[in-house]
Amino acid sequence: MTDLDPSRTKGRTVSGVDIVLEDVVKKYPGQAEAAVDNVSMHIPAGEIVVFVGPSGCGKTTTMRMINRLIEPTSGKITIGGIDALSINPDKLRRGIGYSIQQAGLFPHLTIAKNVGTVLGLIGWNKKKIAERTDEMLDLVGLEPGLYRDRYPRQLSGGQQQRVGVARALAADPPVLLMDEPFGAVDPITRGLLQDELMRLQSDLGKTIVFVTHDFNEAVKLGDRIAVLGNQSHIMQYDSPEAILANPANDMVAGFVGADASLKQLTLTRVRDVELLECPTAYSDGSIEELRAEIARRKVKWGLILDVRDRPIRWVSHNHLTNATSLRDVGNPIGASVSTQSTLQDALEALLAESSASTVVTGRRNEYRGLITIDTLVNHLSAMREEHSSTEEAGNGGVARAGGASS
Ligand SMILES: Nc1ncnc2c1ncn2[C@@H]1O[C@H](COP(=O)(O)OP(=O)(O)OP(=O)(O)O)[C@@H](O)[C@H]1O
Ligand SMILES: [Mg+2]
Repeated sequence: MTDLDPSRTKGRTVSGVDIVLEDVVKKYPGQAEAAVDNVSMHIPAGEIVVFVGPSGCGKTTTMRMINRLIEPTSGKITIGGIDALSINPDKLRRGIGYSIQQAGLFPHLTIAKNVGTVLGLIGWNKKKIAERTDEMLDLVGLEPGLYRDRYPRQLSGGQQQRVGVARALAADPPVLLMDEPFGAVDPITRGLLQDELMRLQSDLGKTIVFVTHDFNEAVKLGDRIAVLGNQSHIMQYDSPEAILANPANDMVAGFVGADASLKQLTLTRVRDVELLECPTAYSDGSIEELRAEIARRKVKWGLILDVRDRPIRWVSHNHLTNATSLRDVGNPIGASVSTQSTLQDALEALLAESSASTVVTGRRNEYRGLITIDTLVNHLSAMREEHSSTEEAGNGGVARAGGASS
């Protein structure tokens, strides 16, 4: 068993339950070798555990044994203390949300029907299903009025993935299995979907098993990462911090990659660093006041906000020189990040705009502050110093590294 550090979930909502795999084996008929060979692991309630590993190593097989879409050859799986092999598989699956690459939606059913299918199976009436479906679409950022009657082909890839997540969450299952759910969308959409999943998870506290090929995605989402080798052998099972700082072997080091120190940026959220303030004004505000504020703070730029405090335009001192109103001056805001985003996302936004700072917005897209390249550089050096001082203190950096399953 893994030694668990309960502090990771302290103070968070937990609605999920523990999942325990003991000596689980899957041998497909006609195959010489087991696809999954004797895997044991404890997936703690309320955490996101990410499986990463090379193609064909058994990630999907391991995951699908948890909801018995694949039957284990031997071994034991318990979910919330209940033996998964003792329950009727259909009943088991109703308590486990499942979402996969390409969203796996039924093409001939509307979005609402796709989201509501499981609810029908568990006996909800039409009215309750309709309400819950709208609530779920809202939750994943799709306006129900616009989307509920469409068909999957009338949605973008990213929107389909959102529907997939809404469907998986509809029956409020304590456990969610996600097999490369964002694998088929572009990197920007993928980043947004990841942010959204983390926002949902901070409210819901499900137990989530998440499969990905992308180590950055694992670092961003995972409370813990299981790096799997051939036949799902666990190479390392630990927090992203510990794996980055101290990979257990060459294979894990290969996954972590050469830019481990840059990946540290993926570990920190924008909300956890100090944001810079910048002069702001509403578009019906005073040019004079904004100009004075820009001068007082000795900066070059200010931000124009709309009535709901959402940033809309950058204005420079020069823009203001000949302007008669704040209504149309300045340049539109390009890429911005949210407080949920990682410092890695912020770096990408800075590079995309080749600007010195990126705007940070909150949950309602309201202005929260700025992040600059200095913020990122200072953060990296602080982490480096922290790390070298723990090493000097003699515990070799991370005490829990290598605490994989037995
Ligand atoms: N139905 C099956 N019958 C026989 N062998 C199978 C079957 N499904 C998977 N396998 C084999 O089991 C091994 C593990 O497959 P699995 O799909 O779990 O890998 P994976 O880690 O999810 O890979 P990927 O990253 O490509 O999705 C592979 O060698 C695969 O060829
Ligand atoms: Mg797979």
